[in-house]
Amino acid sequence: MHELVQDQKNIFEEKYALETKTKYGFHITHDPLIRFLRDRRLNKSLDILKNNNNDDVSSWSVLVVCGGVGGEGIFFYRKGLSNITVSDISENSLKICNFFEPAIDTIMLNGESLDLPDNSYDLVVVQDGLHHLPRPVSGFTEMLRVAKKGIVVIEPYNGLVGNLIGTEWEKHGDAVNYVFRWDKDLVTQVVKSLLLSNYKLIRVLRLWDHNKIIFKTVTKLPKSLQLKASKTIYWLISLFNFSGNNMVAVVLK
Ligand SMILES: C[S@@+](CC[C@H](N)C(=O)[O-])C[C@H]1O[C@@H](n2cnc3c(N)ncnc32)[C@H](O)[C@@H]1O
Repeated sequence: MHELVQDQKNIFEEKYALETKTKYGFHITHDPLIRFLRDRRLNKSLDILKNNNNDDVSSWSVLVVCGGVGGEGIFFYRKGLSNITVSDISENSLKICNFFEPAIDTIMLNGESLDLPDNSYDLVVVQDGLHHLPRPVSGFTEMLRVAKKGIVVIEPYNGLVGNLIGTEWEKHGDAVNYVFRWDKDLVTQVVKSLLLSNYKLIRVLRLWDHNKIIFKTVTKLPKSLQLKASKTIYWLISLFNFSGNNMVAVVLK
């Protein structure tokens, strides 16, 4: 295991110590505001998957990589997909995931070198995880290798504003990672170099994502206005999505 992966593992094992599980309740709450903010990007990916497939996506098997305590897995489970596996480098995170949703399988995997055969799962998903890897592009190609039908990658987008105001080095205790940012050309080139012309779709949505700031802002308002205000803010900033700091990328094989 790469030394930097070991550093990440050590720090995330501590972060996800079992007694901290109540901190992660936002992954399972049905509160409409938190669900809107947390699931917005995943909902966009699911729409793309549904609109570009003839077969029923709900029958697909799903592997989530760098899945933490299971947020993305729980999202797909609640959307009716039943064959879901959440993986992460941290065993503690997977124990919390088992506690949150016992119907989801868990497996400890290093995202940059998945110990799985080709085409093991229909769909492989990552959200806010690849940039924790020392070799994010390896993580991406591993996802493509292990996916039979497609991948969803939700990660920072490489643009002027993101680079100016976004975090360059993420520090969790002693573990440091570079915040790797993607763009449409990079995604396209990585996909084509691995799959050649054997792909059906490469869709990269660029968008703004600032959940924490929007949550802080709208929770100053009366409860009855908070969800509407969040939707309005995101609608307004969507006019500037061409310069967004985040991407929802879907590749279909
Ligand atoms: C910012 S968290 C995101 C978790 C989850 N996707 C979410 O959005 O709630 C990053 C996750 O990547 C995991 N991670 C870091 N390095 C990893 C690696 N080499 N392989 C697999 N997971 C890793 C961490 O343990 C952590 O759970």
